[in-house]
Amino acid sequence: MKFFLDTANLQQIQEAVDLGIIDGVTTNPSLMAKEGVHGLEAIQEHYKRIAMMINGDVSAEVLSSETDDMIEEGLRLASIAQNIVVKIPCTKAGIKAIHILKEKGIRTNCTLIFNVGQAMLAAKAGATYVSPFIGRLDDIGQDGVVLIGDIVEIFKTYQISTQVLAASIRNQSHIQRCMKVGADVATCPLAPILSLLNHPLTDSGLKTFMEDAQKLK
Ligand code: G3P
Repeated sequence: MKFFLDTANLQQIQEAVDLGIIDGVTTNPSLMAKEGVHGLEAIQEHYKRIAMMINGDVSAEVLSSETDDMIEEGLRLASIAQNIVVKIPCTKAGIKAIHILKEKGIRTNCTLIFNVGQAMLAAKAGATYVSPFIGRLDDIGQDGVVLIGDIVEIFKTYQISTQVLAASIRNQSHIQRCMKVGADVATCPLAPILSLLNHPLTDSGLKTFMEDAQKLK
């Protein structure tokens, strides 16, 4: 399973790149706003910097909601760097934009997916990735990871090559369960990824090794 970092924060991206554990980056308008990026030029420049930092796909989300505007924006975003993937919401206008961008050779990530039907339509339109949101489904009392497993299974049944990118991941249990159900990618902030390292037996074992290491000096 690939790990994408779900952030627009350059320091966090650099830290993950230095650790050698990151295969790509996803962003959304909320994450860009959090970094204080405003205006078309600044947004393009920010994406350019991220795209140069990472040897993998970088999802850049459109800010418009009409098909023609999404296409125009998508073409502009895709021209920033080869590894930019245009992120488009799962609406009727978005599905049409995905289809037209696919015909123009532009890769897309269909976001805000909450059921298997949306995932299937996005895949049929030609999305490179679909992004089902785990945490937000959990928030309304559903089990988001079950949706990931369902989409993986359905895509396998119909030999659909669109990749399942599990998003809105909040904790290490989400990540571990995504691995089990066969998600192609998990995207989340750095903290849940690093929390995979935590185990009390690692801590107590290391403490003993360090104490015994002193005896060897
Ligand atoms: O990739 C989508 C993700 O950023 C949404 O996460 O935690 O806002 O539901 P969250």
